[in-house]
Amino acid sequence: MNNSHEKIEKNVGLMAVLIAVAVSFGGLAEIVPLMYQAEAIEPSPGVVPYPALQLAGRDIYVREGCYNCHSQMVRTLQFETARYGRFSESGESVYDRPFQWGSKRTGPDLARVGGRYSDDWHRVHLNNPREVVPESNMPGFPWLEKSTLDGLAIQKHMRALRMLGDPYTDADLADAPKAVEGKTEMDAMVAYLQGLGRVAPKAE
Ligand code: HEC
Repeated sequence: MNNSHEKIEKNVGLMAVLIAVAVSFGGLAEIVPLMYQAEAIEPSPGVVPYPALQLAGRDIYVREGCYNCHSQMVRTLQFETARYGRFSESGESVYDRPFQWGSKRTGPDLARVGGRYSDDWHRVHLNNPREVVPESNMPGFPWLEKSTLDGLAIQKHMRALRMLGDPYTDADLADAPKAVEGKTEMDAMVAYLQGLGRVAPKAE
């Protein structure tokens, strides 16, 4: 039989190109509607852009690669909600650029960790996790305590986020350097962790 399908089957190059075309149509059909949907997602009640100190902490969280071991998304499965609390909703992450949902869980999910421990617990834990959790294999981050924040850098970051649509006010921007003055990276990280999931809808 000498039909066109046979031609494709016997020509690897042509088949590769046609597969790429077919897959990209499938991809577009999935991705494009989601892009428009993402723009339409409203913040969940109580969700506001990160205050300066928490935003600084978030940047450090990304810099240190905490997401390599921690997700920030509670899935809609009962054993997850029983452990972590109410499942995550997209409206909780509208001010997360980029979001920290992740999927790698060497350590526990952190989406609802705010308020679970005291500030002091976090400080000790981040310095050397084994002091509070002897069997922990999380690395220590003792240098966080040793560097202070750059207020102008945070202010710039907030201005950039405002250009992307985050509703920071002029006062938020003006007050940012003051809000982080004299604070260490450790202070910022603890503030960020303590804020995670605080306004999340509560489990019924
Ligand atoms: C190599 C993997 C790894 C990395 C990187 C890592 N962690 Fe962890 N983390 C763990 C493990 C494992 C645990 C559970 C044991 C413990 O509590 O120390 C944990 C626990 C935690 C907890 C307690 C959560 C709970 O509900 O008990 C917090 C908070 C935390 N990590 C924050 C961080 C932050 C912030 C960073 C980045 C600065 C970070 N982790 C980086 C592995 C990691």
